Amino acid sequence: MARRKKIYEGKAKILYEGPEPGTIVQYFKDDATAFNAEKKAVIDGKGVLNNRLSEYFMTGLNQIGVPTHFIKRLNMREQLVRQVEIVPLEVIVRNYAAGTMSKRLGLEEGTQLPRPIVEYSYKDDSLGDPLVSEEHIAAFGWASQQDMDDILSLALRVNDFMSGVMYGVGIKLIDFKIEIGRVYDGDFQRLIVADEISPDSCRLWDIETGQKLDKDVFRRDLGSLTDAYTEVAKRLGVMPKNSTPITKPTLIN
Ligand code: C5P
Repeated sequence: MARRKKIYEGKAKILYEGPEPGTIVQYFKDDATAFNAEKKAVIDGKGVLNNRLSEYFMTGLNQIGVPTHFIKRLNMREQLVRQVEIVPLEVIVRNYAAGTMSKRLGLEEGTQLPRPIVEYSYKDDSLGDPLVSEEHIAAFGWASQQDMDDILSLALRVNDFMSGVMYGVGIKLIDFKIEIGRVYDGDFQRLIVADEISPDSCRLWDIETGQKLDKDVFRRDLGSLTDAYTEVAKRLGVMPKNSTPITKPTLIN
C-alpha cells in the first residue's frame, strides 16, 4: 500500500489522509496519557478496544439521528471518518460529581448532580485545557451563539444515549468529554460529534460495586486498564464474552 500522509499525531491517535477527499483515517494508538501527558504508558490492546468501542457508540448515535464523523471501521486499529474542522472546545457533560468538578467545588465523588451539567474547556495542551465560560467562547469567537445552542443539544443527546446504553449493562455514566467538528455541505455548515467516545474520555462505574471501568484506573493506578476496558466491551457485546484479554499489540491488516 502506498505510504499515507500523516496529518496529525495526538496523544492517543494518529490521523492520516483518507482515500476520498473529505475523509480521514483515524488510527488508535496504545499510548495512554494523563494529567496533560505528565503520566505516560503504553497499554497493550487499548487502541484496539477504543477503536471498537468508539465504533459502537458512534454507530448507535448515527442510528438515532445524532450526527457523528464516523463512517466505518477499517481494521483492528483504524476507522474511516469525515474530515471536520474541530471546534477548539472540550465539551464535558457530568451526571455525578467526580474529577476536577469534585476538586473545584468540594463535592464528594459520586454525588448525583441536580441535572446534567455541561462545561467547556478551551482545547490547548500548553494551558492544560482551561475551563472557560460561554462569555469567553463568544468573546474570542471560538463558536457562535447558534453553534453553542447546537453543541448543547448534541451534548445532551449524547448524554441520554450513552447513559441509557451504559445503564443497560449495569454501568453508571458519571461524566464524559466529546469534541465537535464543523462540516460544510456546499454553503451549509453543521456541527457533528467527532474525535472518539471511549473509556478514555468517559467515567464509567459499575452500578453494583462502584468499580471504575475507565481511564481513572490508569490515572489513579487502580489495576489493569485493559481488563477494565475489556469488561466494558464484553458487557456491550462488542467483544465475545469468552475472548482472552488482549495482551499483545495487534498487527494491523
Ligand atoms: O478531569 P475532569 O474531571 O474534568 O474530566 C471530566 C471528563 O472528561 C472525564 O470523563 C475525563 O475522562 C474527560 N476528559 C477527557 N479529556 C480531557 C479532559 C477530560 O476525555 N482532556
